[in-house]
Amino acid sequence: MNLIKKYNIPGPRYTSYPTVPYWDATPPTIEQWKSSVKRSFIETNASDGISIYIHLPFCESLCTYCGCNTRITVNHTVEMPYITALLKEWKMYLNIFEETPRIKEIHLGGGTPTFFSPEHLNQLIGEILSASIICSDAEFSFEAHPNNTTFEHLQTLYKLGFKRLSLGIQDFDPKVQAIVNRIQSFENVEKVVNQARNIGYTSINFDLIYGLPLQTRKSVIDTINKVNILKPNRIAFYSYAHVPWVKPGQRKFTEADLPVDEEKRALYEIGKEKFSENGYSEIGMDHFALKTDTLFKAVEKGKLHRNFMGYTHSYTQLMVGLGISSISDTWYGYGQNVKKVEEYYDLINNNEFPIFKGHLLNTEDLIIRKHILNIMCKYETSWEKPEEQCEWLYEAVTHLSEMEKDHLIELHPFHLIVKKSARPFIRNICMAFDARLWRNAPTSQLFSSIV
Ligand SMILES: C[S@@+](CC[C@H](N)C(=O)[O-])C[C@H]1O[C@@H](n2cnc3c(N)ncnc32)[C@H](O)[C@@H]1O
Repeated sequence: MNLIKKYNIPGPRYTSYPTVPYWDATPPTIEQWKSSVKRSFIETNASDGISIYIHLPFCESLCTYCGCNTRITVNHTVEMPYITALLKEWKMYLNIFEETPRIKEIHLGGGTPTFFSPEHLNQLIGEILSASIICSDAEFSFEAHPNNTTFEHLQTLYKLGFKRLSLGIQDFDPKVQAIVNRIQSFENVEKVVNQARNIGYTSINFDLIYGLPLQTRKSVIDTINKVNILKPNRIAFYSYAHVPWVKPGQRKFTEADLPVDEEKRALYEIGKEKFSENGYSEIGMDHFALKTDTLFKAVEKGKLHRNFMGYTHSYTQLMVGLGISSISDTWYGYGQNVKKVEEYYDLINNNEFPIFKGHLLNTEDLIIRKHILNIMCKYETSWEKPEEQCEWLYEAVTHLSEMEKDHLIELHPFHLIVKKSARPFIRNICMAFDARLWRNAPTSQLFSSIV
């Protein structure tokens, strides 16, 4: 049987373990949350520093493929109240920390961070940094829509310490751009890339998606040829996640226009071949990087990591998420903020943490997360030492037998190796380890399809 058909089932992307739908039904209490943050901060602030993720949800128009938590508006008076609320939330974290935070990473995600004016971004980041120490190896990055990223945005953020920029490209084909309502010209992207490089940005990432409506093998090749003219340092080549039951915007195009199964995978394989011809190496399941890029170097040093934002080369134990829908990770626990702006304002104005769900990891969760991270980042894992073992592993191994028969993995008594041929099915392998998923199989579709 064709392996793509056989293994193309709904499955998590494993940006966390347990995955969000399997977090405990009762979130941690505020006291538990604060002590989890405090523990992580005390353990690692002095040695590694902390990371901050800030969710800036506003966009001027809806890209219909988008799976992210956004708020569409052209009214820019929303900016200031949101910045004020973010700073109040940050203050709540400062009250937990007993010493000055050392900032290793800041990432601005969205939505469209560049929806905000350079002045407002300056105010937000300037205030956060004024009460912090910036680590010597700090990395600040932001996501940007090429259509509204101005020279002033680039310059202001650069002066604040941002050296990395991630541009949402998705696809250069005019037909694909039209059907997903995201029209942006090559010339515009080129202008932003050149401006950023002239200012001094050292790393540019492009986000691309395969599996979008109307994409063909030829259109993907054309897009990648254009990408190659601009030579970003890194490329995220995401599998289109079709989840119309959560994102009704995805119903604006017809499903018959979507490449699926083998055709969708073929788009990835074609992309991978082109990227390799162009000097990029495949990283994890959906990233590509030039050999000079830190993501590639992290793989070589065995230091690749994965968190809520996907693959990363740098990692801190504590990541504080600010803004609607942001997820904070203390390593011992996760907490997610409410998703609606109004609810977020109400809680912040009452001086309450805006967290509405979360999870404190038990011993089994911590062990399974380690194995899932190993599989996603190193393509192998082993459980020889007692601290790497839990009862569930014996069960997990039984769920791997079919993939062993299909020559996708090598299974030794305490060691699993993922073969190259299994790269499209890494999520399936992780699913075998996912005790919470097996114990409580979903009754309706929770996840997008693997391929
Ligand atoms: C939160 S978006 C930010 C994009 C950026 N602010 C912009 O508008 O240019 C981050 C990335 O997630 C990816 N993405 C969004 N929806 C997706 C989906 N349904 N399937 C796969 N990837 C998706 C896109 O590549 C996008 O660039």
